This record gives sequence, C-alpha cells and structure tokens, in this order.
Amino acid sequence: MSMEKAEIVSKSDDLELEEPWDDEFQKLVQTSPKDRSLAGLDLYFYQGFWCTSRVLKAVISFHKHLRPFDSDVILATVPKCGTTWLKALPFSILCRNQFARDENHPLLTFGPHQLVRFLEYDLYLNNPCPDLETECVYRPRIFSTHVPYSFLPTSFKDSGCKIVFACRNPMDMFISLWFFQNNNRVESAEPLSLDEAFDKFCRGIYEFGPFFDQVLGYWKASQENPDKILFLQYEDLVEDINSHLRSLAMFLGVPFTEDEEQQGVVEEIAKLCSFESLKEAEMKKKGMHASGIPNSVFFRKGKVGDWSNYLTPSMVERLEKLIQEKLGDSGLTLKLSCKTTSKDIASA
Ligand code: A3P
Repeated sequence: MSMEKAEIVSKSDDLELEEPWDDEFQKLVQTSPKDRSLAGLDLYFYQGFWCTSRVLKAVISFHKHLRPFDSDVILATVPKCGTTWLKALPFSILCRNQFARDENHPLLTFGPHQLVRFLEYDLYLNNPCPDLETECVYRPRIFSTHVPYSFLPTSFKDSGCKIVFACRNPMDMFISLWFFQNNNRVESAEPLSLDEAFDKFCRGIYEFGPFFDQVLGYWKASQENPDKILFLQYEDLVEDINSHLRSLAMFLGVPFTEDEEQQGVVEEIAKLCSFESLKEAEMKKKGMHASGIPNSVFFRKGKVGDWSNYLTPSMVERLEKLIQEKLGDSGLTLKLSCKTTSKDIASA
C-alpha cells in the first residue's frame, strides 16, 4: 500500500488523558503515520492497519483488561461486510430457547448492536475497564470487533472461545462504506467523490484497512484452525442462509435437533434476522448506536452486486487487479455476484 500521503503526526491529538500509560500512548500516536478517513476523521497507521486514536486506545484497553471465557464468541468482521446481520445470527442461534421468535424478540426490540456489542467501538470506547458482568447481560457472551486477526489478544487465540469472521466482496463493501461514511462524516469534512473515496479505499486508508490484509489474516488463521475460526462470506449467506445457519450452529456447538428442523426453527431464525425484518424493527424504534449514529444507517440495500450501479470499468479493472495480486495463491475466492459466474475472482 502506498504511504505517500501519510504524514507523521507532529502535534498532540486531542485525547483524554486518564491512564498511567497515556504518555506512552501519546508517543505512539505522535510517531504513527497519519491520514484522513472517508468521513474526515484522523486515522493512524498502527501495526499495518489504520484506525482512529480513540479506537486504538480502546483496542489497547481490551488487550489489557479483557479476560475471555472459553464460552465467549467473537464476531470479527471487515466494516460494511454485514456485521449487523452477523450479530443477529449467532445471537438468535445461541439464545433460541430463551425467547419466542415474535415481535417481542430482543433482536427486534433492542437491535443487533445493543445485544452484541463492539469491543472497540462501544464497550471499551469510553471506559478502559468496563464491568462486563453488568454490561453483557446475555450468556454466552458474544463480542463484536473489526480488529484484524493480528490485533486479537493472545488470550483470545489461546482460549477455547470461538471466532466467526465475515467478509464481503470488496466492490460492494466499498460502495457500502462510501455511502455510510459520507452520511456520517465529521461536520467540517466535505463529502468525498466516488473517485477520491475509491482511491483511498484501494490504498487501504479507512478504518481497519487495508481490506486484503484483514481478510487474509483471518483466512489463513481459519485454514490453520477451522474448529476455532469460521470464515464466512456475505454472498454465501445471501445465497443460502438456511444451510449457513446450520453450519454456524454446528460450529458453535449447538446444532439444530431433528425436532427443531421439523418445527422450522432454522427458517424462523433466517426470517427473524433478515434484512427486511431487522430494518423494519429499526425504523419503528429509531435506536442509536453507541458511536452516536442512528442504527437505521446500518440498513441500506443489503444486495450483492450493487457495485455494478456505481463503479466505472476502470475502477473495476483496478480492483480486479488488486484482488488477483493480493489474494495470489491463497486459495480464497471472493464472489462479485451471488451465483458463481465468470465475474468471480478466484485466486490461482
Ligand atoms: P449495503 O450498504 O450494501 O446495503 P455492517 O453491518 O458491517 O455495517 O454492513 C452493512 C451492510 O450490511 C449494508 O450493506 C446493509 O444494508 C447490510 N445489511 C444489514 N443488515 C442486513 C441483513 N439482516 N441482511 C443482509 N444484509 C444486511
């Protein structure tokens, strides 16, 4: 990734100083390459990935303080790759005997982001050591994160907790990100044109970019340890949610019983977590995300292949080249459309 635009931070960032390690943290931030997110936020390049200083601080906090249980589930996603959906799926699988799947289900009354909370964008964002006993009411605990595999604490990797990762083809992910960030940009920032945003995206400059490094980190880890890390793709979920619910339940150690199959529990969960169901519930309650944005912005179109309405042929060509170059012989194939077609970019 080109670092030409990255500038060394020369002045202090406006961080709240509250922990003994703040001096150390300030130094870290001040010596990190800096750039702007698509939404106009300052991003710092730390250990191969971009993030804001507030989020970086939260990441360091959960590294220091979070003690995982073997029963924990970590949902790791690339931003705009279906995190909201992915939060709903394991929650409804794991808590399926606790709630009736009707309009009073917590997914519809609270919403996925309230039930499965982000480590770095929520729990540890304003509190370096939150009381998880009171903050996380459901069991088993399910946490969400956008951090790359290399940022996950060793304690997570060494514990029995399961990790579910989801990504999406980078073309749809980029379009989703562009809409999301332009709608949630800092007041002083002008919206970025598609061209400007695309260039930044290709250079990996957005929260937890570059895309390919993040995807490959989890891909390799899932290949090495398939019982611990489940690698999912948004397009596969869209194409056949029922079989993915079954494999997800199996992976989490709670497979659907024959009785449940006969009663149509799998189909009920798929419907409960569907784009239409979650969006409609969100439109009614108008909830806010912990980061201060309305939850409704997490539901736009929920389609595969929407990129073809926006990207120019030269953009597609640039991204296709990047996919070939970055995925190389990894064995990972990203699906640019729903059915497997010649549009798929397979690694060699
Ligand atoms: P689009 O912008 O392409 O519509 P994230 O949750 O990681 O921020 O990702 C948001 C993307 O997932 C958005 O994509 C959104 O519409 C889509 N999405 C949200 N909930 C979904 C659901 N239940 N099923 C399918 N897609 C969903």
